Amino acid sequence: MSNVTFFSGENVPLEMHKVRMVQKINLLPIEERLACMKEAGFNTFLLKNRAVFLDMLTDSGVNAMSENQYAAMMQADDSYAGSETFFRLEATLQDIFGMKHFLPAHQGRACENIIAKVFVTPGSTAIMNYHFTTTKAHIHLMGGKVEEVIGDEGFKIDSTEPFKGNLDINKLNNAIERIGVENICFVRIEAGTNLVGGQPVSMQNVREVSHICRREGITLVYDASLLADNLYFIKVREAAYADVDIKAITREIGELTDIIYFSARKLGAARGGGILTSNDEMFNKMREMIPLYEGFLTYGGMSVREMEAMNVGLQETMDINVISQTPIFVKAFADELQARGVPVVTPSGGLGCHIDAQRFCSHIPQTQYRAGALAAAVFIASGVRGMERGTMSEQRNDDGTERLSEVELLRLAIPKRVFTLSQIKYAADRIAWLYENRELIGGLEFDEEPKVLRFFFGRLKATSDWAEKLAAKFRKDFGESL
Ligand SMILES: Cc1ncc(COP(=O)(O)O)c(C=O)c1O
Repeated sequence: MSNVTFFSGENVPLEMHKVRMVQKINLLPIEERLACMKEAGFNTFLLKNRAVFLDMLTDSGVNAMSENQYAAMMQADDSYAGSETFFRLEATLQDIFGMKHFLPAHQGRACENIIAKVFVTPGSTAIMNYHFTTTKAHIHLMGGKVEEVIGDEGFKIDSTEPFKGNLDINKLNNAIERIGVENICFVRIEAGTNLVGGQPVSMQNVREVSHICRREGITLVYDASLLADNLYFIKVREAAYADVDIKAITREIGELTDIIYFSARKLGAARGGGILTSNDEMFNKMREMIPLYEGFLTYGGMSVREMEAMNVGLQETMDINVISQTPIFVKAFADELQARGVPVVTPSGGLGCHIDAQRFCSHIPQTQYRAGALAAAVFIASGVRGMERGTMSEQRNDDGTERLSEVELLRLAIPKRVFTLSQIKYAADRIAWLYENRELIGGLEFDEEPKVLRFFFGRLKATSDWAEKLAAKFRKDFGESL
């Protein structure tokens, strides 16, 4: 990574790129932000983007692309079958991961659908560090179960553990013994563990898990959607890899696992996705599903332009100056919030800054969605759109009771190379104000609650007139300011 020290001694997340195309954004007055939040059923997914100032909902498909990615899109070879674009992309993936076969799919969850259809049988269990929403939903749809074996540190909000996404090896061994190898469909490692705060998995952990899976004859699946951030953390936090090339680390992951899949909306800063394996039998089984659910084998639901952008984006992911940008901005954001007393996940991970809604909104019952209420309040106070990652993102138990999440987080995603430092400072400043006024935030309850993935399009209402009171306090404190 480029080593740039400031004379002032200040730790500044310096951008190693320049901005050459911009999009105008608007900050609406608080009264309009409040009206928009109510219209969206207190669900940030249902906000219209025109109401949003800084969109920190996700990095998915909204990362800034490089000039070379745009240039590559112009040379796309448009063909249903056998396009040159596909072969270029396949060659890059084979080179980066050292795996033999590539199956294209239109995004990450499409890969999960195919993997679940091929490997998950009713009653079988997928063991993993931690679930991702769509992963779990696909496993459940096939009648499978999910067993999580993330280390205890993974759930600790304040920690100094550098790899909080690691699987706990004891828990893994115990789970295998208890469940029985024959009842395990696969073990899954999620890089940059999304739902616990974008926390990385070490290479040593991947090696240990791989060793166990090979010994037991269990398929090892690696979700590489958040690999870019994870690669950065391996490089800077795992001493044995400080001098190892990013590509060599990526290849080692390929050698240690049986199947790698990814969302290219994240990895490669493009759109689309794909599955890789060197195992002929697994490849043949999964291949049958691609034309059925995705499209022909040389496009898999993607446009050729998306594939060209992905091809270049993946190559650029091997550059530490490219992949360091999100983690250093996340750290700057988290440091600023922490300095102002706001509880955040530490050490900061990739993907985005994660605020601990459990503590921020400890006065709200967990069944009234602490993180969801905080997401709504942050939008009202700032026009910044974040995403609830807590109980609302869970599905109810079969008996209709709430499955309370271990962690209640508000995720403020930092799409790659999109925001400036002053925008981050603005967001942190408004959140610090909100923290001082946190008692004004109240709970939420569902008005319309979908059965599956309810957080995406469920509609909620406030349990009192707290949102109006919050807006009134803002006016009092900020005067005419937006
Ligand atoms: C770890 C992880 N896996 C899978 C997915 C699903 O990918 P997609 O949104 O492209 O369907 C995501 C998306 O956020 C993710 O973060």
